[in-house]
Order: sequence, then structure tokens, then C-alpha cells
Amino acid sequence: MGILRYLGHSAFYIEGNGIKALFDPFFTGNPMASAVPEDFKELTSIFLTHGHDDHIGDTIEIAKRTNATVFTCNELACYLQSKGVKVEAMHIGGRANFPFGRVKLTPAWHGCPIVENGEIRYGGVACGFVIEVDGKKIYHAGDTGLTMEMMLLQAEKVDIAMLPIGGYYTMDTEDAARAVGMIEPCIAIPMHYNTFPAIQTDPEEFARRVGNELTEVKILIPGEELCF
Ligand code: NI
Ligand code: MN
Repeated sequence: MGILRYLGHSAFYIEGNGIKALFDPFFTGNPMASAVPEDFKELTSIFLTHGHDDHIGDTIEIAKRTNATVFTCNELACYLQSKGVKVEAMHIGGRANFPFGRVKLTPAWHGCPIVENGEIRYGGVACGFVIEVDGKKIYHAGDTGLTMEMMLLQAEKVDIAMLPIGGYYTMDTEDAARAVGMIEPCIAIPMHYNTFPAIQTDPEEFARRVGNELTEVKILIPGEELCF
């Protein structure tokens, strides 16, 4: 049995057979964070969707301290590697086997800069992840607008989907509910909302808009977890 814990914004901790991992570990400066980087002493992997501050967050510090491998798209991975981080430099649509299960990078309709000393550099493309842990398929969408690419995920038979709902930079509750209709996951968890004024929204509205029997919406408060 695995656990999935919401840590605020787009950050999650997942633990299962052979894996202890973080998604988008943005804790420092995150008003919604329910964890601090030092909470993670033992980690195998970090799944990083793109280079924006509210996702890359504490990645470099945590990865170097725990020796966790960072999975992300090739260009951003090369940058992290230059900082002394262990990486899996995959790319969109690519799938590979790892001791804990398979990982696939999915398209995300969003930007992916590398920001350093106030300068913006090319960082490849933003991505999402489908990872397989303990026989379950878990989809973290990253930051993305609604895109027809999500139709392709229906065939993946996703068990748990984490979807941004805050609008402004990503899907809002209306588009995220349409994404649920395309993906048809067993469980949908809203993320990327209420952290900043621009992405204020009501997750209950997302749940109402989904309103179907195929998918159960689970609204997690930061620090809350579910077992799968
Ligand atoms: Ni972003
Ligand atoms: Mn973001």
C-alpha cells in the first residue's frame, strides 16, 4: 500500500514499494506549505514539472542533501546536473522502467524557464508525469492549460490525477473539470490554487463541476494524505 500526501500548492510526497519521492517541492516561501525541506531526510526521487520558482522551489537543496534523483525534461535536467544534482533527463512522451515502476513524461501546455540571478534562460518544455507505484498509475499534470493531449491519458487508466485548478497560469475549475472528463481517473485531487491572490478559487466548485460517478474528487488540505 502506498501513501500520497499533499504538501500545499503543487507539492506532494509519495511513498510506495521502493520509492520515497516528492513532486514539485516548493516549501521555502510557499504560504500553503505543510512541510519544510529538512523534513525529508531519505528520498529516492524528485519529480519536477518545470523551472518556475513555485515548482523547482527547494529541489536543488533537497536533491543534493538526500542524493535523490530528479526526473524532469532534458534541458532542465542538464541545468540541475551542472549544479551537482543526480538526474534522469527524460523527455515528453518518453517512458522508462525504474526499480519502483515506470515513469512517463506527459505534455504540459506551459513555459519552462531556467531563472538564475535574475536572468531567464531556455529550460526546455514543461511536463507532467504518469508514474506507476504499487500497481497504481498516478498522474501529476504540472502546470498546464486544458489540452487535447489529455485525451491520450484515458487509455492509461489513471488511478489518481493531480490537476491544477487555480486559473490565471493554468486550468481553472471549469477547464480542470473538463480535463477530468477526458482523463477519467478514479480519483482527482485539485492543486495549484489559493497560494497567491491570482489563483484564488474554491475547490468545492471543482468538485461540483466534475460531478460524475466515474471520478471521486478528493480535496486534500496541506498535510493530509490518502492511501492507495
Ligand atoms: Ni508554472
Ligand atoms: Mn505554477
